[in-house]
Amino acid sequence: MTQRVLFVCLGNICRSPTAEAVFASQIGSLDVSHDSAGTSGWHIGEPPYGLMIAAARRRGIEMDHLRARQFSAADFSEFDLIIGMDPANIEAIESLRPAGSNTRVALLLDFADGDEKTVPDPYYTRDFDGAIDLVGAGVQGLIKALSP
Ligand code: 4NP
Repeated sequence: MTQRVLFVCLGNICRSPTAEAVFASQIGSLDVSHDSAGTSGWHIGEPPYGLMIAAARRRGIEMDHLRARQFSAADFSEFDLIIGMDPANIEAIESLRPAGSNTRVALLLDFADGDEKTVPDPYYTRDFDGAIDLVGAGVQGLIKALSP
């Protein structure tokens, strides 16, 4: 059965679209569907942030077709796995969990080796390459975890 994965960050213009695009580029024949969303509604309908698109493009990752949307409680029934980029994302996601939902929510870096659990927000740090590196480590572990 198709596994449905949703990547979530705050704005849905930097980290989560990057995670989705990196994931999409690496899933091969894995039976998964994917999307991304933001816990805020600040950038609904916008493409990813220009400097994020440019940094990803330098790695061969295209993401300018993606558009931001806001995470909602309905996503708990639309996805099997909801993945946040930092603990604040997890808190915002969990605050919308419908009663009785047992959809799995996890940090992306739970799937990576190492002690770092947060993908720092490059919108503030300006470290777009560092964000791609961390996202890549998490996505690699995630794909391993989802592989039969
Ligand atoms: P993201 O980064 O959560 O990785 O998409 C952000 C982008 C924009 C804003 C915050 C975080 N903002 O405040 O507009």
